[in-house]
Amino acid sequence: MDNELRVRARAHAAKDPFPIEGFSHLEWWVANAYQTAMFHRLVLGFRIVGYRGPETGVPETASYLLESGDIRFVITGAMGPDHPIAEHVRLHGPGVHDVAFAVPDAEAAFELAVERGAEAASKPAVVEDDRGSMVVAGIHAYGDTVHSLVQLDGAMPGFEPREDTIAEPAGLHTIDHVVANVELGKMNEWVEFYERVFGFTMLKHFDDDAISTEYSALMSKVMWDGDGIVKLPINEPADGRRRSQIEEYLMFYRSPGVQHVAMATDDLQGTMEIVHRRGLETIHVPDEYYPQARERMPDLDVDWERIRRLRLLVDRDEGGHLLQIFTRMLQDRPTVFFEFIERRGAIGFGAGNFKALFEAIEREQAKRGNL
Ligand code: FE2
Repeated sequence: MDNELRVRARAHAAKDPFPIEGFSHLEWWVANAYQTAMFHRLVLGFRIVGYRGPETGVPETASYLLESGDIRFVITGAMGPDHPIAEHVRLHGPGVHDVAFAVPDAEAAFELAVERGAEAASKPAVVEDDRGSMVVAGIHAYGDTVHSLVQLDGAMPGFEPREDTIAEPAGLHTIDHVVANVELGKMNEWVEFYERVFGFTMLKHFDDDAISTEYSALMSKVMWDGDGIVKLPINEPADGRRRSQIEEYLMFYRSPGVQHVAMATDDLQGTMEIVHRRGLETIHVPDEYYPQARERMPDLDVDWERIRRLRLLVDRDEGGHLLQIFTRMLQDRPTVFFEFIERRGAIGFGAGNFKALFEAIEREQAKRGNL
């Protein structure tokens, strides 16, 4: 590292343990980028705003740039069997390869991360076109997942812009949190990694008493940047009578990786009416859940009948309440899924719903013969 850079990195570190402005984007590596992009567009209301592929001078991959509110996804597939993306998909199935953070100075952030022991995945590089420029570097995270550090000025470069007049938004506007599943005994290693490299702290801790059903258990720690812009829960399996959903994930993803991506909406009921109409399947919350939830939160001012009809989950904490729901698996393998969340003051993750949620997940797991 040259001196000037070291000074810059130190200056940043003095102001902030590791300046992160938020999630930049997630990059999904999939078998068929076109169809995955279409699912996000036609069901979830994302707009396709850019394309990069053989037609634009990139012969080996095809990528779609999608947006919904402030959420940005890059969905990429390989054009042939020898590409690393094809290998990633062969091993893991479709999944999130890159949880990218927006940073004010990608070079300084990269040097600081490496100095703090992160393993470099890609050295700082500049990408630019007439619409924007980007400095991007990457470090390794859990499994084959990476964290790109993205310093973006203008529009994301390298993509041919697309005008999308078809997509009808469903109200999803922000990435609320991105959850990792890691192997038994590894949760604390990754907690330490986010503390050491990014200066994150632990927001919440759920032990296996909080998150257990008759059959299985898991433990979870939520790491965050302190501002609530970036929240990264990390799960590991705990001892249960049967195989936990985390173990099922690890078995099918073949490594640690991203389990679910939670996206926020300001009107979850409206969002769900739209996406249900388009055929999106969400986990089945049983009838018994609703009288129990009402009893747990008797003075909550919500339309319980509509919530029951839409099969949403409700929880509250010291800050307020939240509505949330989980989609079914997004691919054939039981690995990655979405959560939709509407925060009405609550800062938690729906701990009061864990039991009902996991029982619903386990019913699906049992149908697959993996419980
Ligand atoms: Fe979540």
